[in-house]
Amino acid sequence: MSHRNEATAALKALSVATDACRECPLGEPATQSVFGEGPVGAVLMVVGEQPGDKEDLVGRPFVGPAGKLFDRAVAELGWSREQHYVTNAVKHFKYELRGKRRIHKTPGQREAEACHHWLESEMDLVRPQAFLALGATAARSLLRRPVAVMKERGRWLEDEATGRRVLVTLHPSALLRGDPAQREAAWAAWLKDLSVASSLVKKAARKLAAGQPSSPKPAASHARRRVRMVME
Ligand code: URA
Repeated sequence: MSHRNEATAALKALSVATDACRECPLGEPATQSVFGEGPVGAVLMVVGEQPGDKEDLVGRPFVGPAGKLFDRAVAELGWSREQHYVTNAVKHFKYELRGKRRIHKTPGQREAEACHHWLESEMDLVRPQAFLALGATAARSLLRRPVAVMKERGRWLEDEATGRRVLVTLHPSALLRGDPAQREAAWAAWLKDLSVASSLVKKAARKLAAGQPSSPKPAASHARRRVRMVME
């Protein structure tokens, strides 16, 4: 079987395994886990923080208000969402109840750490060319260090240990929450950050249109070991 087919099957198995995960307290009260979706060998792996209320109910990443904003940006940039693998650093929705409403709570570092191995396995299987981190939780999970998003946004950062190229920007919900008077400027600045990945994304789209889908990046040896474990 090709890596693509094997990895697609392994991602499905991982998705089922995350649903049963109780390595931190977030799994129990959630409706279900929300695993990543998109093609193996995607040009970009887009990583958010955690599923929101809608994602928790539907079981798919970025289908709520933040996802709609991301989709709008993708359309404005001339990208297509199907090109990307979209996932989250944390796979279960963290919330607190206020009356009947479930209010988003930012996951703690312990929860993000407990969930990290799922993301590592996704990275090893999907082998994207680069990563887009939406917000501080995603950036920290990818770069394995605290990231000051406002300072480091909008340029490629390289993780020396793994060779990962990561573009960091704000989480779309920060734009939704932001000062209405600043909304247009914040939107333009966000698009500018995202556009740093445009040449990579468009090159991959041209290759795909010419019938040459980009092959997944070769895996490092530690990643090959992890993939074997996931597939066995
Ligand atoms: N916010 C995220 O970070 N991820 C989602 O899937 C939805 C909202």
